[in-house]
Amino acid sequence: LGNTWFYDPAYTQTAATSSAITEIDGENGILRYRGYPIEELAEKSSYLEVAYLLIFGELPTEDQFAEWVHDITYHTFIHENVRKRFLEGFHHDAHPMGMLVSAIAALSTFYPNAKEIDDEDNRYRQTVRLIAKMPTLAAACHRFSVGQPFVYPDNSLGFTANFLSMMWKIAEPRYDANYALAHALDTLFILHADHELNCGTATMRMIASSNSDPYSSAAGAAAALYGPRHGGANEAVIRMLNRIGSIDNVNSFVEGVKNGDEKLMGFGHRVYKNYDPRARIIKQTADEVFAVTGKNPLLDIALKLEEVALEDDYFKSRKLYPNVDFYSGLIYQAMGFPTEMFTVLFAIPRMSGWLAHWKELMEQDQKIARPRQLYVGAGERSFVELGDR
Ligand code: SDX
Repeated sequence: LGNTWFYDPAYTQTAATSSAITEIDGENGILRYRGYPIEELAEKSSYLEVAYLLIFGELPTEDQFAEWVHDITYHTFIHENVRKRFLEGFHHDAHPMGMLVSAIAALSTFYPNAKEIDDEDNRYRQTVRLIAKMPTLAAACHRFSVGQPFVYPDNSLGFTANFLSMMWKIAEPRYDANYALAHALDTLFILHADHELNCGTATMRMIASSNSDPYSSAAGAAAALYGPRHGGANEAVIRMLNRIGSIDNVNSFVEGVKNGDEKLMGFGHRVYKNYDPRARIIKQTADEVFAVTGKNPLLDIALKLEEVALEDDYFKSRKLYPNVDFYSGLIYQAMGFPTEMFTVLFAIPRMSGWLAHWKELMEQDQKIARPRQLYVGAGERSFVELGDR
């Protein structure tokens, strides 16, 4: 029971029971959102359409999608006090993900009706606000962490192109390249949108089960994602590849991993005991990006690392394959994102998955999560006075 929640319906009613949102077949490397294979969604859909699918359970009609995009676009701005009073208050070298976690929580103080979670229309408004504001908050955290002025949303742009515009205020001529990058980033957003009951989503459901508001619940989920064993792995992969430095050093690095010196970051998964289907798609997307940005020089080391590991019994016997984080950082770095932004890029789309689980939990009308533990400590004993110890 060490790593699993002690589940006894009589006691726990945890927030981790059944769900109709995402299906993972770990042995066969299959991932579906509401029954649709991730490969089809990555190829044919967009992040906002997938966010709608995750939250409402069906692909939107044209009218539904137009209303959804209108509502999201209407809420991309953040309150000026979030910008001036809050984000600017951080230390100059604050980590953008630490800023983002705090900013998401702070939003709960700007929308008092966020606690009226029994009202379905109100839940919709909070859902739209959080999805819409994530790129604006993310870009603002980056701009403040590098000492650059805030860039307001340009609502004439699509969701992901608007984010790139807020990140870098792209000059017009680069928009063609920018749209190619926006399309690739939108695909990455689709791949990161939800993943069943991972650490961050379980945290979302746990906090939300107490009827806390969605901003506070999402801030907790983002805090879990901040961990290097979870969403922080893509940042750790780049640091690992930089430390390896050359394909000539790959074999000796792998021997170090097999000796237990360190983990092969971006490899392994609690559920996938096969190739993470997202990693396969991200690897294909890398070609699209590198055609615009030029190849990331670390790619050759990553490819060699994968080749060596997939042929090695240590990894094969433990069913360790590349996961979603192994190649994503290479793309983000080629696009110009600093490594400190990589987990922030994970959080932007994962917000729609967290909110889909929040909506499902609210509609399941579940009790508060209250996992139990098996007590394995000392048996009953009497108090001993300080002088007698
Ligand atoms: C994400 O849950 C989700 O869905 C998360 C996520 C999502 O979309 O939300 O998919 C995103 O978090 C992906 C994972 C990103 N993390 C990393 O890439 C960090 C490196 N990976 C490891 O920390 C590890 O693989 C975990 C934590 C991801 C999963 O570990 P498990 O399933 O708990 O496996 P384990 O710890 O029981 O390991 C089994 C064996 C052990 O060896 P032995 O004790 O049997 O000798 O495999 C070894 C481990 O030491 N092992 C690794 C390894 N991962 C596991 N050895 C080297 N390198 C690794 N990466």
